Amino acid sequence: MKGLILSGGKGTRLYPLTYTSAKQLVPVANKPVLFRVIEAIRDAGITDIGIVVGDTAPEIQAAVGDGSRWGVCVQYIRQEAPLGLAHAVKISRSYLGNDRFVMFLGDNVIQGGISSLIRQFATSDWHCQIVLKGVTEPQHYGVAELDGDGRILRLVEKPREPRSNLAMVGIYMFDLHVFEAVDAIRPSWRGELEITDAIQYLVERGYRVYPYIHRGWWIDTGKPGDMLAANSLVLDEMEHCIEGLVDADSRVEGKVSIAAGAQVINSVIRGPAIIGEETRIVNSYIGPFTSIYHHTTIESSEIEHCIILENCRIVDLPARREDSLIGRNVVIVRSPIKPRAYKMTLGDNSRVGVL
Ligand code: G1P
Repeated sequence: MKGLILSGGKGTRLYPLTYTSAKQLVPVANKPVLFRVIEAIRDAGITDIGIVVGDTAPEIQAAVGDGSRWGVCVQYIRQEAPLGLAHAVKISRSYLGNDRFVMFLGDNVIQGGISSLIRQFATSDWHCQIVLKGVTEPQHYGVAELDGDGRILRLVEKPREPRSNLAMVGIYMFDLHVFEAVDAIRPSWRGELEITDAIQYLVERGYRVYPYIHRGWWIDTGKPGDMLAANSLVLDEMEHCIEGLVDADSRVEGKVSIAAGAQVINSVIRGPAIIGEETRIVNSYIGPFTSIYHHTTIESSEIEHCIILENCRIVDLPARREDSLIGRNVVIVRSPIKPRAYKMTLGDNSRVGVL
Protein backbone atom coordinates (compact mmCIF):
# COMPACT_ATOMS: atom_id res chain seq x y z
CA MET A 1 0.00 0.00 0.00
CA LYS A 2 0.95 3.64 -0.47
CA GLY A 3 0.22 6.68 1.67
CA LEU A 4 -1.19 9.98 0.43
CA ILE A 5 -1.05 12.99 2.75
CA LEU A 6 -2.94 16.16 1.92
CA SER A 7 -0.98 19.19 2.97
CA GLY A 8 -2.25 22.02 0.82
CA GLY A 9 -4.86 24.60 1.79
CA LYS A 10 -4.48 28.06 3.24
CA GLY A 11 -5.41 27.33 6.87
CA THR A 12 -7.66 30.42 7.01
CA ARG A 13 -9.34 29.25 10.23
CA LEU A 14 -5.98 29.39 12.00
CA TYR A 15 -5.09 32.94 10.90
CA PRO A 16 -2.93 34.76 11.91
CA LEU A 17 -0.69 31.79 12.81
CA THR A 18 -0.93 30.45 9.29
CA TYR A 19 -0.33 33.71 7.42
CA THR A 20 3.33 32.92 7.57
CA SER A 21 3.36 29.17 7.83
CA ALA A 22 1.51 26.01 6.78
CA LYS A 23 -1.15 24.85 9.23
CA GLN A 24 0.17 21.28 9.07
CA LEU A 25 3.46 22.51 10.53
CA VAL A 26 1.95 24.04 13.66
CA PRO A 27 3.25 21.81 16.48
CA VAL A 28 1.04 19.89 18.85
CA ALA A 29 3.00 18.82 21.96
CA ASN A 30 6.08 20.26 20.21
CA LYS A 31 5.80 18.15 17.06
CA PRO A 32 4.21 19.41 13.82
CA VAL A 33 0.92 17.66 13.12
CA LEU A 34 2.23 16.65 9.68
CA PHE A 35 5.15 14.77 11.30
CA ARG A 36 2.66 12.89 13.48
CA VAL A 37 0.75 11.88 10.33
CA ILE A 38 3.94 10.66 8.61
CA GLU A 39 4.81 8.61 11.71
CA ALA A 40 1.34 7.07 11.90
CA ILE A 41 1.60 5.93 8.26
CA ARG A 42 5.19 4.69 8.70
CA ASP A 43 4.22 2.79 11.88
CA ALA A 44 1.50 1.03 9.85
CA GLY A 45 4.28 -0.37 7.63
CA ILE A 46 3.86 1.95 4.62
CA THR A 47 7.07 3.42 3.22
CA ASP A 48 5.96 5.14 0.00
CA ILE A 49 4.24 8.42 0.81
CA GLY A 50 3.02 11.11 -1.59
CA ILE A 51 2.37 14.55 -0.12
CA VAL A 52 -0.02 16.83 -1.99
CA VAL A 53 1.15 20.42 -1.56
CA GLY A 54 -0.16 23.85 -2.56
CA ASP A 55 1.04 27.41 -1.95
CA THR A 56 3.01 26.38 1.13
CA ALA A 57 5.00 23.75 -0.83
CA PRO A 58 8.47 25.25 -0.19
CA GLU A 59 7.95 25.30 3.56
CA ILE A 60 6.54 21.75 3.69
CA GLN A 61 9.38 20.45 1.50
CA ALA A 62 12.00 22.16 3.64
CA ALA A 63 10.54 20.63 6.81
CA VAL A 64 9.96 17.07 5.54
CA GLY A 65 12.62 16.62 2.84
CA ASP A 66 12.79 13.20 1.21
CA GLY A 67 11.38 11.43 4.28
CA SER A 68 14.61 9.56 5.06
CA ARG A 69 14.51 10.92 8.62
CA TRP A 70 11.50 8.63 9.16
CA GLY A 71 12.78 5.80 6.97
CA VAL A 72 10.16 6.51 4.28
CA CYS A 73 10.34 7.74 0.70
CA VAL A 74 8.40 10.97 0.19
CA GLN A 75 7.39 12.41 -3.17
CA TYR A 76 5.57 15.71 -3.66
CA ILE A 77 2.52 16.22 -5.83
CA ARG A 78 1.66 19.82 -6.68
CA GLN A 79 -1.99 20.91 -6.53
CA GLU A 80 -2.25 24.20 -8.40
CA ALA A 81 -5.35 25.35 -6.49
CA PRO A 82 -7.28 24.02 -3.48
CA LEU A 83 -9.99 22.35 -5.56
CA GLY A 84 -10.96 19.67 -3.04
CA LEU A 85 -9.87 16.37 -1.54
CA ALA A 86 -11.20 14.34 -4.46
CA HIS A 87 -9.28 16.62 -6.83
CA ALA A 88 -6.12 15.81 -4.85
CA VAL A 89 -6.77 12.10 -5.46
CA LYS A 90 -7.30 12.80 -9.17
CA ILE A 91 -3.95 14.53 -9.63
CA SER A 92 -2.17 11.79 -7.64
CA ARG A 93 -3.25 9.04 -9.98
CA SER A 94 0.09 8.48 -11.70
CA TYR A 95 1.88 8.41 -8.35
CA LEU A 96 -0.59 5.92 -6.84
CA GLY A 97 -0.82 3.62 -9.88
CA ASN A 98 -2.99 0.58 -9.14
CA ASP A 99 -1.94 0.29 -5.50
CA ARG A 100 -4.35 0.36 -2.61
CA PHE A 101 -3.69 3.46 -0.54
CA VAL A 102 -4.53 5.36 2.62
CA MET A 103 -5.29 9.06 2.33
CA PHE A 104 -4.66 11.02 5.53
CA LEU A 105 -5.44 14.73 5.94
CA GLY A 106 -2.31 16.47 7.20
CA ASP A 107 -4.16 18.33 9.96
CA ASN A 108 -5.88 15.35 11.59
CA VAL A 109 -4.66 13.78 14.83
CA ILE A 110 -6.06 10.42 15.93
CA GLN A 111 -5.50 8.39 19.08
CA GLY A 112 -3.85 5.02 18.65
CA GLY A 113 -2.51 5.44 15.10
CA ILE A 114 -3.78 3.57 12.04
CA SER A 115 -1.85 0.26 12.07
CA SER A 116 -4.85 -1.96 12.81
CA LEU A 117 -6.99 -0.09 10.27
CA ILE A 118 -4.39 -0.60 7.55
CA ARG A 119 -3.93 -4.30 8.42
CA GLN A 120 -7.67 -4.80 8.22
CA PHE A 121 -8.03 -3.04 4.85
CA ALA A 122 -4.88 -4.45 3.22
CA THR A 123 -6.14 -8.03 3.62
CA SER A 124 -9.82 -7.37 2.83
CA ASP A 125 -11.79 -7.31 -0.41
CA TRP A 126 -13.29 -3.90 0.38
CA HIS A 127 -12.97 -1.19 -2.22
CA CYS A 128 -12.91 1.52 0.40
CA GLN A 129 -12.81 1.93 4.16
CA ILE A 130 -13.82 5.09 5.97
CA VAL A 131 -13.36 6.05 9.61
CA LEU A 132 -16.26 7.51 11.57
CA LYS A 133 -16.44 9.15 14.96
CA GLY A 134 -19.45 10.29 16.98
CA VAL A 135 -19.23 14.07 17.54
CA THR A 136 -21.43 16.80 19.00
CA GLU A 137 -21.36 19.15 15.97
CA PRO A 138 -21.48 16.88 12.91
CA GLN A 139 -22.60 19.71 10.62
CA HIS A 140 -18.94 20.84 10.32
CA TYR A 141 -17.87 17.52 8.74
CA GLY A 142 -18.79 14.87 6.23
CA VAL A 143 -21.60 12.89 7.91
CA ALA A 144 -22.49 9.19 7.49
CA GLU A 145 -25.93 7.68 7.87
CA LEU A 146 -25.87 3.93 8.59
CA ASP A 147 -28.69 1.35 8.50
CA GLY A 148 -29.62 -0.99 11.37
CA ASP A 149 -26.93 -3.46 10.29
CA GLY A 150 -24.21 -0.79 10.29
CA ARG A 151 -24.03 -0.49 6.50
CA ILE A 152 -23.65 2.93 4.88
CA LEU A 153 -26.86 4.42 3.56
CA ARG A 154 -25.65 7.89 2.69
CA LEU A 155 -22.70 10.25 3.06
CA VAL A 156 -23.25 14.01 2.97
CA GLU A 157 -20.65 16.80 3.20
CA LYS A 158 -21.41 19.37 5.94
CA PRO A 159 -25.19 18.85 5.97
CA ARG A 160 -27.26 21.64 7.52
CA GLU A 161 -29.44 19.02 9.21
CA PRO A 162 -27.21 16.00 9.92
CA ARG A 163 -28.99 12.62 9.91
CA SER A 164 -26.54 11.18 12.46
CA ASN A 165 -23.70 12.28 14.77
CA LEU A 166 -21.11 10.22 12.85
CA ALA A 167 -18.46 12.50 11.36
CA MET A 168 -16.05 11.30 8.69
CA VAL A 169 -12.52 11.36 10.06
CA GLY A 170 -9.88 12.60 7.58
CA ILE A 171 -8.48 9.09 7.02
CA TYR A 172 -9.69 7.07 4.04
CA MET A 173 -8.56 3.82 2.40
CA PHE A 174 -9.16 3.13 -1.28
CA ASP A 175 -8.45 0.78 -4.15
CA LEU A 176 -8.28 1.96 -7.76
CA HIS A 177 -12.07 2.25 -8.13
CA VAL A 178 -11.86 5.64 -6.45
CA PHE A 179 -10.44 7.06 -9.70
CA GLU A 180 -13.70 6.21 -11.49
CA ALA A 181 -15.55 8.05 -8.71
CA VAL A 182 -13.41 11.21 -8.71
CA ASP A 183 -13.80 11.45 -12.50
CA ALA A 184 -17.59 11.13 -12.27
CA ILE A 185 -18.46 13.67 -9.55
CA ARG A 186 -19.03 17.41 -10.03
CA PRO A 187 -17.87 20.29 -7.78
CA SER A 188 -19.97 21.04 -4.67
CA TRP A 189 -21.52 24.39 -3.67
CA ARG A 190 -18.11 25.40 -2.28
CA GLY A 191 -16.52 24.77 -5.67
CA GLU A 192 -14.58 21.70 -4.53
CA LEU A 193 -14.54 18.07 -5.63
CA GLU A 194 -15.58 16.49 -2.33
CA ILE A 195 -14.16 13.14 -1.27
CA THR A 196 -17.47 12.54 0.51
CA ASP A 197 -19.28 12.72 -2.85
CA ALA A 198 -16.75 10.34 -4.41
CA ILE A 199 -17.33 7.77 -1.65
CA GLN A 200 -21.10 8.25 -1.94
CA TYR A 201 -20.66 7.43 -5.65
CA LEU A 202 -18.89 4.16 -4.70
CA VAL A 203 -21.73 3.30 -2.29
CA GLU A 204 -24.38 3.97 -4.96
CA ARG A 205 -22.57 1.82 -7.54
CA GLY A 206 -22.51 -1.12 -5.12
CA TYR A 207 -18.78 -1.04 -4.35
CA ARG A 208 -17.92 -2.40 -0.90
CA VAL A 209 -17.34 0.56 1.43
CA TYR A 210 -16.68 -0.37 5.06
CA PRO A 211 -17.41 2.09 7.88
CA TYR A 212 -15.03 1.68 10.81
CA ILE A 213 -16.19 3.42 13.97
CA HIS A 214 -13.27 4.88 15.91
CA ARG A 215 -13.59 4.76 19.72
CA GLY A 216 -10.58 6.86 20.77
CA TRP A 217 -10.24 10.60 20.38
CA TRP A 218 -9.85 12.39 17.06
CA ILE A 219 -9.19 16.07 16.39
CA ASP A 220 -9.23 18.05 13.16
CA THR A 221 -6.81 20.81 14.15
CA GLY A 222 -8.32 23.41 11.81
CA LYS A 223 -9.31 25.92 14.51
CA PRO A 224 -7.40 27.44 17.51
CA GLY A 225 -9.62 25.74 20.13
CA ASP A 226 -9.03 22.39 18.41
CA MET A 227 -5.27 22.94 18.47
CA LEU A 228 -5.34 23.41 22.24
CA ALA A 229 -7.59 20.36 22.66
CA ALA A 230 -5.29 18.19 20.53
CA ASN A 231 -2.30 19.52 22.46
CA SER A 232 -3.87 18.51 25.79
CA LEU A 233 -4.79 15.02 24.57
CA VAL A 234 -1.34 14.31 23.12
CA LEU A 235 0.45 15.71 26.21
CA ASP A 236 -1.64 13.42 28.38
CA GLU A 237 -0.19 10.38 26.55
CA MET A 238 3.41 11.57 26.44
CA GLU A 239 6.29 9.95 28.36
CA HIS A 240 8.00 11.71 31.26
CA CYS A 241 11.50 12.62 30.07
CA ILE A 242 13.93 15.19 31.46
CA GLU A 243 16.97 15.83 29.26
CA GLY A 244 17.51 19.51 29.94
CA LEU A 245 18.64 21.22 33.12
CA VAL A 246 16.36 21.68 36.13
CA ASP A 247 18.10 23.61 38.91
CA ALA A 248 17.81 22.82 42.62
CA ASP A 249 15.36 25.68 43.25
CA SER A 250 12.85 24.35 40.70
CA ARG A 251 10.10 21.76 41.06
CA VAL A 252 8.81 19.45 38.34
CA GLU A 253 5.50 17.71 39.11
CA GLY A 254 3.63 15.11 37.05
CA LYS A 255 4.45 14.07 33.50
CA VAL A 256 6.85 16.56 31.98
CA SER A 257 9.20 16.50 29.00
CA ILE A 258 12.14 18.87 29.01
CA ALA A 259 14.27 18.75 25.86
CA ALA A 260 18.05 18.78 25.70
CA GLY A 261 19.50 22.26 26.10
CA ALA A 262 16.43 23.62 27.91
CA GLN A 263 16.89 25.27 31.30
CA VAL A 264 14.43 25.53 34.16
CA ILE A 265 15.59 28.00 36.78
CA ASN A 266 13.77 28.71 40.06
CA SER A 267 10.45 27.68 38.50
CA VAL A 268 7.59 25.22 38.89
CA ILE A 269 6.52 23.02 35.97
CA ARG A 270 3.30 21.11 36.57
CA GLY A 271 2.62 18.50 33.91
CA PRO A 272 1.53 17.33 31.55
CA ALA A 273 3.75 19.89 29.89
CA ILE A 274 6.58 20.00 27.38
CA ILE A 275 9.50 22.40 27.11
CA GLY A 276 11.46 22.59 23.83
CA GLU A 277 15.16 22.69 22.99
CA GLU A 278 17.19 25.67 24.25
CA THR A 279 14.11 27.17 25.89
CA ARG A 280 14.58 28.99 29.21
CA ILE A 281 12.01 29.08 31.99
CA VAL A 282 13.10 31.48 34.72
CA ASN A 283 11.22 32.45 37.95
CA SER A 284 8.01 31.20 36.37
CA TYR A 285 5.13 28.77 36.69
CA ILE A 286 4.21 26.52 33.75
CA GLY A 287 0.91 24.76 34.38
CA PRO A 288 -0.77 21.64 32.96
CA PHE A 289 -1.45 21.18 29.23
CA THR A 290 1.18 23.64 28.08
CA SER A 291 3.64 23.22 25.20
CA ILE A 292 6.49 25.66 24.85
CA TYR A 293 8.50 25.18 21.68
CA HIS A 294 12.20 25.71 20.96
CA HIS A 295 14.37 28.78 21.68
CA THR A 296 11.76 30.63 23.74
CA THR A 297 12.25 32.51 27.01
CA ILE A 298 9.63 32.72 29.74
CA GLU A 299 10.61 34.89 32.67
CA SER A 300 8.67 35.92 35.80
CA SER A 301 5.37 34.79 34.28
CA GLU A 302 2.63 32.18 34.79
CA ILE A 303 1.39 30.16 31.84
CA GLU A 304 -1.17 27.36 31.69
CA HIS A 305 -3.06 25.49 28.94
CA CYS A 306 -1.19 27.24 26.13
CA ILE A 307 0.81 26.55 22.99
CA ILE A 308 3.75 28.90 22.56
CA LEU A 309 5.91 28.58 19.45
CA GLU A 310 9.57 29.22 18.86
CA ASN A 311 11.73 32.28 19.51
CA CYS A 312 9.23 34.03 21.77
CA ARG A 313 10.08 36.21 24.76
CA ILE A 314 7.50 36.50 27.50
CA VAL A 315 8.65 38.49 30.49
CA ASP A 316 6.97 39.88 33.62
CA LEU A 317 3.34 39.20 32.79
CA PRO A 318 1.10 40.76 35.45
CA ALA A 319 -1.55 37.99 35.22
CA ARG A 320 -1.58 34.27 34.44
CA ARG A 321 -1.82 33.52 30.75
CA GLU A 322 -4.26 30.73 29.87
CA ASP A 323 -5.93 29.15 26.81
CA SER A 324 -3.61 30.98 24.42
CA LEU A 325 -1.95 30.13 21.14
CA ILE A 326 1.12 32.27 20.53
CA GLY A 327 2.96 32.27 17.20
CA ARG A 328 6.63 32.50 16.34
CA ASN A 329 8.92 35.39 17.37
CA VAL A 330 6.29 37.00 19.63
CA VAL A 331 7.49 39.38 22.35
CA ILE A 332 5.27 40.13 25.36
CA VAL A 333 7.02 42.27 27.96
CA ARG A 334 6.11 44.82 30.63
CA SER A 335 7.10 48.20 29.41
CA PRO A 336 8.41 50.90 31.79
CA ILE A 337 7.79 53.61 29.21
CA LYS A 338 5.12 56.17 30.20
CA PRO A 339 2.20 56.54 29.71
CA ARG A 340 1.24 53.19 31.28
CA ALA A 341 -0.80 51.54 28.58
CA TYR A 342 -1.10 48.35 26.57
CA LYS A 343 1.12 48.69 23.51
CA MET A 344 0.70 46.01 20.88
CA THR A 345 1.75 45.19 17.36
CA LEU A 346 -0.60 42.41 16.32
CA GLY A 347 -1.08 40.73 12.97
CA ASP A 348 -4.43 40.72 11.14
CA ASN A 349 -7.12 38.61 12.84
CA SER A 350 -5.23 38.42 16.13
CA ARG A 351 -7.36 38.00 19.26
CA VAL A 352 -6.31 39.37 22.64
CA GLY A 353 -8.28 39.28 25.91
CA VAL A 354 -7.08 41.89 28.44
CA LEU A 355 -7.90 42.35 32.13
C1 G1P B 1 -12.72 17.62 5.31
C2 G1P B 1 -13.76 16.69 4.66
C3 G1P B 1 -14.81 16.26 5.68
C4 G1P B 1 -14.13 15.61 6.87
C5 G1P B 1 -13.05 16.54 7.46
C6 G1P B 1 -12.23 15.80 8.50
O1 G1P B 1 -13.35 18.82 5.70
O2 G1P B 1 -14.35 17.38 3.56
O3 G1P B 1 -15.72 15.37 5.09
O4 G1P B 1 -15.11 15.30 7.85
O5 G1P B 1 -12.15 17.00 6.45
O6 G1P B 1 -11.21 16.58 9.03
P1 G1P B 1 -12.62 20.26 5.53
O7 G1P B 1 -11.44 20.23 6.46
O8 G1P B 1 -12.23 20.36 4.09
O9 G1P B 1 -13.65 21.28 5.93
